[in-house]
Amino acid sequence: MSSVSTSVRDRVDQLRTTITDHNHHYYVLDDPQVPDAEYDRLFRELQALEAEYPELATATSPTQRVGSAVETSFAEVTHRIPMLSLDNAFSADELRDFDRRVRERLNRGNTAGENSTEDGGDIEYVCEPKLDGLAVSLHYQNGELVRAATRGDGYTGEDITANIRTIASVPLNLRGGDFPQTVEVRGEVYMPRAGFDRLNQRLAGRGEKTFVNPRNAAAGSLRQKKSSVTARRPLEMCAYSVAVTDESALPPTHWEGLQQVSEWGFRINPEMSLAIGADQCLEAYEALMAKRDSLPYEIDGIVFKVNRLDLQQQLGFVSRAPRWAIAQKFPAQEELTVVESVEFQVGRTGAITPVARLKPVFVGGVTVSNATLHNMDEVRRLDLHIGDTVFIRRAGEVIPKVVKVVQDKRPSNAAVIELPAQCPACGSDVVQIEGEVIARCSGGLFCPAQRKEAIRHYASRKALDIEGLGDKWVDILVDSEKVETIADLYRLRKADLIGLERMGDKSASNLIAAIDASRQPLLWRFLYALGIREVGEATAKGLAGYFGSLEAISEADENALQAVSDVGPIVAGHLRSFFEQPHNQEILQNLKQAGVIWQTQEITAASRPLHGQTWVLTGTMEQMTRDQAKQKLEGLGAKVAGSVSKKTACVVAGEAAGSKLTKAQQLGVDVLSEQGLLDLLRGHGLEV
Ligand code: IVH
Repeated sequence: MSSVSTSVRDRVDQLRTTITDHNHHYYVLDDPQVPDAEYDRLFRELQALEAEYPELATATSPTQRVGSAVETSFAEVTHRIPMLSLDNAFSADELRDFDRRVRERLNRGNTAGENSTEDGGDIEYVCEPKLDGLAVSLHYQNGELVRAATRGDGYTGEDITANIRTIASVPLNLRGGDFPQTVEVRGEVYMPRAGFDRLNQRLAGRGEKTFVNPRNAAAGSLRQKKSSVTARRPLEMCAYSVAVTDESALPPTHWEGLQQVSEWGFRINPEMSLAIGADQCLEAYEALMAKRDSLPYEIDGIVFKVNRLDLQQQLGFVSRAPRWAIAQKFPAQEELTVVESVEFQVGRTGAITPVARLKPVFVGGVTVSNATLHNMDEVRRLDLHIGDTVFIRRAGEVIPKVVKVVQDKRPSNAAVIELPAQCPACGSDVVQIEGEVIARCSGGLFCPAQRKEAIRHYASRKALDIEGLGDKWVDILVDSEKVETIADLYRLRKADLIGLERMGDKSASNLIAAIDASRQPLLWRFLYALGIREVGEATAKGLAGYFGSLEAISEADENALQAVSDVGPIVAGHLRSFFEQPHNQEILQNLKQAGVIWQTQEITAASRPLHGQTWVLTGTMEQMTRDQAKQKLEGLGAKVAGSVSKKTACVVAGEAAGSKLTKAQQLGVDVLSEQGLLDLLRGHGLEV
């Protein structure tokens, strides 16, 4: 008899049940039932009781998920039922062949869909995403997790029970009461993309080796000797099969088996579907493929499994794969290629970025011939040389990355990659400030690469929004020496443009008109458009609101600048050094002379009559664009938002206004027509 009172025992049991329920909702159903703080309180209470009464400890208590810092070695485990692999289909034809073989073996006569009768002879398949992780086998005895193993060679694997216990989506006890005495659940352990990215950032931040992909990260995490390390890795588990090793019966189909497993507390994949016949399987393939990049975890294909277990049994196995299942692979997201050269690109603020030029390679569904290397730290971390064979990865995110160098394939003449001492675009010195990762060209606006970027930024949507002045025209205008700085834009005449590469009469007129239309920018837009380092939209708005004029900003010292909420010593320093450069002062002078007038009036209550109000624009306007209307309203101090709420001051409804207008009417928010807006603007002395 132990000394622990029944009430303590009951409380411990109750806490374990409650916490386990919360875990299940959070990690398996993605549907938390309590706020984190409440969960933490319960968890700490249980931890405290277990510490006080060690005799109550159990291996399946939710507190045991944190793992142990004691090193274990992995004992060998023999799989009672071998863990097989899957055959692959690499094309639609191969999938149809598989389906035909299945039907032939089952004596379902119809070939290639001909003669299909009403009951079709067509086979029902379960279509499951093929998760890119590691297969595991979990044994439950009387509902309790007793042993977990890796697949190994399919016949013997390693005992990883301690590590598996730390994965929150693995039930330590099966839920409900309706389970066989002994049961084996199999599935995939994987690392979701977000967790993988965070883990790699953490590792890179410490200068440690990063993982090439989520699969390797999952494998590395499961192989940890200290389960406390595994516990800190963001692993998940998803079940995809169930087997009983006693006499109990399973449901008649794989699909129902998985529903059963889900009731026992496992995560099953929400993307699973049923398909009848090869055509529907191919549709499921296309549908899943279209979703691939938006899923929170990586998949490398789709698995089709004959749904009826009796048919699975009839089909049996061949060598090491079942005849009743096949995997159809998606295009690979990693391939090998060769780095042929490394070039250095210069950004707007002079940041120099190494870019690998690759032997073109088809990866993640596209042909890739460039990959960013970010900075020289990354080049050193990868130990990349020119001529190296590398892993290129393009997954989900659009920018391909070099993730690993194959050291063994390095040619003897492979060249070390060195940061150039001079800017490749202008020849100015490249400088790297102590402690900064990024190297920069010191040429400022003398550098054509920086000039182009500066002009692109000036014309971009959130800045002065000069329609039609895209990358191509900026290249042409700068390369033909028609434009050197943003001020030169306003001196362009139509005659300067005609005859330039593919520039016709109409597009020349349009471009000139668009540039003209940008002569009276709001102060904050203009400030943002100047492209001062670390002065984004919000900072520019803050500065414009506080100082009211460009002169005041350009004359303010670093202390005065820091009175603006977004501005700290670094941004203040960037602002000072921008305005102190004679070259920049000259550009500002030239802009003024060219007739660019930013709003210089003080921001007073009179000039901001709509201050504190939120306006919403909807529908089509005829006499101005929505952006123009937005600029004018912001000029009067209003905030312009995208959705209507009780707090909206007014909705401007153009032609064919829809749900936003309806909502405004429901909420009793003021509504103005386009004409009403024009009248209002004119009333405040604004030309429209
Ligand atoms: S079924 C006998 N279903 O793919 C059937 N496997 O190439 C064996 N995998 O080792 C596996 N998702 O690691 C199955 N929905 C899924 C899967 C899946 C991923 C992995 C698993 C297995 C490998 C077989």
